[in-house]
Amino acid sequence: MTAGRHVVLGVTGGVAAYKAAYLARRLIERGAAVRVVMTASALEFIGAQTFAAITGRAPLTDLFSDTDVSPHTTLGRWADTIVIAPATAATISKLASGQASDALIATVLASRARVVVAPAMHTEMWEHPATQRNLELLRSYGYEIVSPERGALAGGDEGVGRLAEPETIAEVVLSHLSTLDLAGLHVIVTAGGTREPIDPVRYIGNRSSGKMGNAIAQVAANRGARVLLVTAAEPPDDPSIEVVRVETAQQMAEEVWSRARHMDVAVMAAAVADFRPRDIDNSKIRRADGVPEIELVPTSDVLQGVHEMTPRPLLVGFAAETGSLDHVVEKARSKGVDLLVANDVTKEGSGFGSDTNEVRFVRGDGSVTDHELMSKHDVAEEIWDEVLRLRAES
Ligand code: CTP
Repeated sequence: MTAGRHVVLGVTGGVAAYKAAYLARRLIERGAAVRVVMTASALEFIGAQTFAAITGRAPLTDLFSDTDVSPHTTLGRWADTIVIAPATAATISKLASGQASDALIATVLASRARVVVAPAMHTEMWEHPATQRNLELLRSYGYEIVSPERGALAGGDEGVGRLAEPETIAEVVLSHLSTLDLAGLHVIVTAGGTREPIDPVRYIGNRSSGKMGNAIAQVAANRGARVLLVTAAEPPDDPSIEVVRVETAQQMAEEVWSRARHMDVAVMAAAVADFRPRDIDNSKIRRADGVPEIELVPTSDVLQGVHEMTPRPLLVGFAAETGSLDHVVEKARSKGVDLLVANDVTKEGSGFGSDTNEVRFVRGDGSVTDHELMSKHDVAEEIWDEVLRLRAES
């Protein structure tokens, strides 16, 4: 389970390249998935085979020999962190000016990942104003620099410029990768808005985009949980999340009820239709036949079914409200959830389809926490933090 812990290790041409092999091993031991990109001069110092043996995958060494037509974008998107160790003065200069002339710089440019740069070079090169100016530029891009240490340098010289210890670099890299505090938990998440067919072309639906449920599933996977996502929307592109696609409330109910009993946590983020047409026409309803009368009947309450299970998972419900949240404490009580996440979908930044949400947490005991407007990703992190607290208390 390495989602959220993907590290691209860039190795450039310096004597310290051998230390990159230790760094790769250290990162893998600490739970990261590591893929390596090497520059041509790195290959003068250490063999690609060394990294292939450590990481289980041949390093990317140039942009054109890989079977992937666009290896730099594939790798750039895969990465959560790119760490360049050792980074030579030449690579730092190319990075500063965005010169995507090799596979490593192209990968960095094609990525939104965090970048950590660990330089190694002779003292004179390190202190040269060009290098220092380039490092300033890298800092201004938000890159983190792991400064070189004082010590023995190539050719018997001594001074500042020696690559920081692999352990130090690994610490910096891992400090930002998600902790695996949900490891061992088996969770089920529902997402999206269900669609209740009227005839073969029409349905009753709602505006839910599935973004909140996707974020909850993704964050859980990043934090090490085994995740089953039952969704009526487009799921995240992450092979570590098991996905079951459904359309109607009834299908969602059947999938959830047959799978949830032995789960540790169930998060019901889907906007499930409360009513469906009693009959579904086999052929398209024609305008010429006049205005149809569509009789609605209640759907199954998915959450209610999970609540009645014994044993049952820790249960998180959602309440998409339009207006005041005054009654959500009562809603949490009546639904019997351990946590209710309520929001006013008419409020700016909190609606269906937006990337942000402003939520109120109501615990089973009626206590309330109001959160500020934040990204749906951060709301998901808060939900899992709260789930861990509730599990610790129970
Ligand atoms: N839910 C469900 N099955 C349904 C309807 C809702 O599992 N058929 C779940 C939702 O996934 C959500 C929670 O119940 O987690 C609350 O949904 P909401 O529509 O706010 O609840 P209702 O009881 O339908 O309240 P209201 O009368 O305000 O619509």
